[in-house]
Amino acid sequence: MNSENSTISSSENPPATLVQLGQSSLRVSPVGTGTWQWGGAFYWGYGRSYTDVDLAQAYSASIENGINWFDTAEIYGRGRSEKIIAKLGAESNSTAPKPLVATKFFPYPWRWHRSSFRRALRASLKRLNTDSIDLYQIHFPFRPRSFEYWVDALGEAAQDGLIKAVGVSNFSAEQTKRAQELLARKGVVLASNQVGYSLLNRAIESNGVKEACDDLGVSVISYGPLAEGLLTGKYRSDNPPPLLRKWRWARKRLKLLPPLISLMSDISTAHKVSVTQVALNWLIQKETLPIPGAKSAMQAADNATAMTWKLTNDEFEALNEATQQYVAGSRTRFI
Ligand SMILES: NC(=O)c1ccc[n+]([C@@H]2O[C@H](COP(=O)([O-])OP(=O)(O)OC[C@H]3O[C@@H](n4cnc5c(N)ncnc54)[C@H](OP(=O)(O)O)[C@@H]3O)[C@@H](O)[C@H]2O)c1
Repeated sequence: MNSENSTISSSENPPATLVQLGQSSLRVSPVGTGTWQWGGAFYWGYGRSYTDVDLAQAYSASIENGINWFDTAEIYGRGRSEKIIAKLGAESNSTAPKPLVATKFFPYPWRWHRSSFRRALRASLKRLNTDSIDLYQIHFPFRPRSFEYWVDALGEAAQDGLIKAVGVSNFSAEQTKRAQELLARKGVVLASNQVGYSLLNRAIESNGVKEACDDLGVSVISYGPLAEGLLTGKYRSDNPPPLLRKWRWARKRLKLLPPLISLMSDISTAHKVSVTQVALNWLIQKETLPIPGAKSAMQAADNATAMTWKLTNDEFEALNEATQQYVAGSRTRFI
């Protein structure tokens, strides 16, 4: 990932240095805003614990604090997340350049032909109210169609000018290399692989994904960078996260969490930042692009502030050591 000298301005923080997304023409802030939550009622509680007003404020706070891209997907809120981003973009009176949007194609088992890829792409273009998608990603390398089939369709759409940069998500090391080869034959660059990566999920360091991406010049976009809120320090065994996250996380990770949160807390105090920012800063220092999901202005601004400071080498190493157990594992978990 190459650092560039271009900058974007911010009312709250010093301007963030933009980085090149893989070897594509896109320049992104080191932190993006994830928007699975934007319309995600069932898992995240959209419409109950937070509303469109909160999301409008999260959108503005992201941009004001130097974030220049949003990650979404056609499946988030069944298209609602894409629509919310387009609406907020149209209503925004920010003087900052229009933010970039990364979205994703989902290879549902009933999607069988190239025509279904084009239909999905056209539907995303319509919801996003644009004629070209900044970064279009294959969400998962799911069968029955081979991932090569969808990568080929992605390459064609890029050649047709419907996509500015091409990405994949949840691809293994071998799949990433193959995707890069197939796209290169069409003269298209593979910009990124979006995978689960955090202090609590370091599998990409042992399953070859990180090494493959680094070797190929493909950016790693880190999803679940806060382990769905666990790495913010606000959840404990006696205060688990709400809704389905409670069942997913309560018994496993929460019990092992206190020593790590205590270390993160010491580091956060030394830098006068939040625990959350320590988790994000570690991912930036691993030369990846975290996309924390934000439900409010406070969360978006806090996440963006992780771009404005740096862990010391000793702190970085202490965090590596404290989470060494999460390197093990051969596959990229979904979170
Ligand atoms: N490609 C894929 O397969 C895939 C899979 C998953 C996610 N993603 C993408 O990655 C993004 C990020 O992952 P994620 O949203 O699943 O998990 P995450 O970013 O690890 O956690 C997000 C949650 O943490 C809490 N939070 C965020 N910022 C905070 C702050 N500053 N202070 C306190 N709490 C904060 C919020 O929930 P509460 O306030 O309710 O705790 C928020 O919903 C998604 O939005 C999506 O765009 C992609």
